[in-house]
Amino acid sequence: MHCHPPGDGIIEAPQEETVVSIAAPIAPHGGALIDRVLTGTARAAALGRAEGLPSVTLGSVSLSDLELIGNGAFSPLTGFLGSADYHSVLDEMRLHTGLPWSIPIMLAVSADEARRLAIGSEVALRDEGGRTVGILELAETFTCEKADEAQRVFGTTEDAHPGVARIHAGGDTYLAGDVWVLDGPIDPPFAEHRRTPAETRAIFAERGWQRVVGFQTRNPIHRAHEYLTKVALEVVDGLLVHPLVGDTKSDDIPADVRMRAYRTLLADYYPESRTLLSVYPAAMRYGGPREAIFHAIARKNYGCTHFIVGRDHAGVGSYYGTYDAQKIFDRFDPLELGITPLFFEHTFWCHACEGMASYKTCPHGDEQHLILSGTKVRELLSAGEMPPAEFSRPEVAEILIDAYRTPAGATNR
Ligand code: ADX
Repeated sequence: MHCHPPGDGIIEAPQEETVVSIAAPIAPHGGALIDRVLTGTARAAALGRAEGLPSVTLGSVSLSDLELIGNGAFSPLTGFLGSADYHSVLDEMRLHTGLPWSIPIMLAVSADEARRLAIGSEVALRDEGGRTVGILELAETFTCEKADEAQRVFGTTEDAHPGVARIHAGGDTYLAGDVWVLDGPIDPPFAEHRRTPAETRAIFAERGWQRVVGFQTRNPIHRAHEYLTKVALEVVDGLLVHPLVGDTKSDDIPADVRMRAYRTLLADYYPESRTLLSVYPAAMRYGGPREAIFHAIARKNYGCTHFIVGRDHAGVGSYYGTYDAQKIFDRFDPLELGITPLFFEHTFWCHACEGMASYKTCPHGDEQHLILSGTKVRELLSAGEMPPAEFSRPEVAEILIDAYRTPAGATNR
């Protein structure tokens, strides 16, 4: 390369790096990516055995938990939690090994159903159509502490909270033990965007992304969400847009509608080379702060090094304070979580700034801020009215208005 004396007005191009960075990808939670999916002859043998086994039918949340234990999204879990882990997750937000874990992953059945099963034997796990999807090595059965669990995980015992209502609707006895997955969902939605943690990790490696930010969402991407993701992308190599597409409450916008909106928005406004749209087939827990930790850990397993936590992450109603889901990260040593949270204050369009801003970055008063409640946005969309373009891009709003006009079930995948 050419050298110039200092001060001759010529700016040198940065010297080419001679040392290629070979940073290792972020380690999965607990150190190893769990794989509990049986294939080939092991699967065939397990399917054969399953025919003669007592069985339990899984609802949609347990089916999704099974899939995510199997593919390692919930590493280091290898099955549904036993009582030692259950109590330490409720009391300490840790597995009994001490590893951070904030949401109990449980398999509930009725006490009568549990009595039919023998500890130490295998149980076939079936879907509602009777198909064998997995095997549980039943290690333990124990009673759910419903009120205590609700209070500790969700901060309330009110049935109006969707997570609490789910606990109350479930059985009284938990089945615990390691699982093996024999079959995934039949004809799963968004198949081309359904990637396991091993697959997203491989894509990040292939694209040379060493620092990847994960974005959890259960909503369409409005301008505030777009701002968070792009500000975050400014400081890392790649963005994983990772919408949750498992069970959500009935007034949340259905995943198929959201996926149409995400695809359209990403095609027009995000750089393809730095963005990956993939689905997170988990059920929403509405656990606010505890779910933020859980979401971050799962995204670490998918290979993300950073994770966005904005206002009222995974919140519902007014059960949590606006920034509780950020404050809870102080209860862990950053090294034991491994993934770095990126916290954002409440963001909005500011007319005076003529751009997106937050309470942290904007000096103007509330009269300049465009803030619409979820209820107001739903009212506008269901009346066929476009929300302001500064709140939601018209391309997205059109898809949502169209979905409100189309009878449920008539939408495309
Ligand atoms: S969530 O239940 O998945 O958290 P949502 O899809 O609305 O709900 O939010 C996705 C992420 O964006 C969360 O981290 C949330 O805190 C953040 N977020 C949503 N809206 C805003 C906003 N206006 N300002 C800051 N953060 C936001």
